[in-house]
Amino acid sequence: MSERIAVVTGGNTGIGYEIARGLALNQMRVVLACRDLSKAQNAAATLRSEYEPPIDVLHLDLASFRSIRAFAEEYAERFGRLHLLINNAGVFSDRRAYTKDGFEQNMGVNYLGTYLLSRCLFPLLSASKGARMVTVSSRAGLYGRIDWRQPFCGPAGFRGYAASKLAQIWMTMDFAEEMSGQDIRINGVFPGRAATNIWRGDSFMMKLMRPLMLRFSQSPVACAQVALRVALAPDAEIKSGMTYNAKGPITGNKRLDDIMGRKRLLCLTKSFVDG
Ligand SMILES: NC(=O)c1ccc[n+]([C@@H]2O[C@H](COP(=O)([O-])OP(=O)(O)OC[C@H]3O[C@@H](n4cnc5c(N)ncnc54)[C@H](OP(=O)(O)O)[C@@H]3O)[C@@H](O)[C@H]2O)c1
Repeated sequence: MSERIAVVTGGNTGIGYEIARGLALNQMRVVLACRDLSKAQNAAATLRSEYEPPIDVLHLDLASFRSIRAFAEEYAERFGRLHLLINNAGVFSDRRAYTKDGFEQNMGVNYLGTYLLSRCLFPLLSASKGARMVTVSSRAGLYGRIDWRQPFCGPAGFRGYAASKLAQIWMTMDFAEEMSGQDIRINGVFPGRAATNIWRGDSFMMKLMRPLMLRFSQSPVACAQVALRVALAPDAEIKSGMTYNAKGPITGNKRLDDIMGRKRLLCLTKSFVDG
């Protein structure tokens, strides 16, 4: 039972797939938590053909609180322990769309869904020695503004995406504070821009921007490295409650350090998600 086990949300493709691959290469058992089981099974089959540790697949739709709770229950029943949670899954929704629970898609999936999943898996994480949680945020978060009139039903497009990515970072800081007495490191990462499916929006602006974004992007393999380092580096090299990019921890950023905004969002989140 010395095998270490990781959950990677959205591990079927893009940056998440490369993170899963890096973990398997480092002898971790990996569970791909994905909304499309056939895509996930294909990814798992490829990984199994390359690596020794078991690769499992479980259904998870971050756009549904019900699915998230069902995932956490099934995961606990089947695996019973968790050492590493990689919150990677995310959307860039450039048109107004809503999650099953009625939240704007960017905020609902990237932030609220990720928040609830993390909360549901905390009991397993905190029972493991040297546990870690890594949330794949984005530099876009540095431009994020929460729309306080309607924090979870605000604008779609870049404004919604950036707000959700700022909220993710605040979430990791709050969780790290809450769990500070425990043997767990909780961090966010900015992976860098990768040529992945996330930029598939169909608005006029997106059609214009996509070729440019893809041209000036890195490979998903390169973008997975920051998360892998924060997930796997020795304890002495990794703090908790930080946001890392390829150069190291980001410090002294006014938006990330806005503690009043962070606590206000946490309070609102608790009232919507924790009930
Ligand atoms: N690519 C970039 O330039 C970039 C830059 C900064 C940060 N990021 C972040 O990196 C992460 C990975 O993105 P990527 O670029 O690798 O994009 P991607 O290739 O589109 O992968 C996104 C993953 O999230 C999954 N997903 C989307 N909605 C979901 C939901 N409701 N429930 C469960 N899974 C869901 C997708 O599933 P399907 O395959 O079924 O769609 C896919 O597995 C995201 O959090 C993104 O914000 C990306």
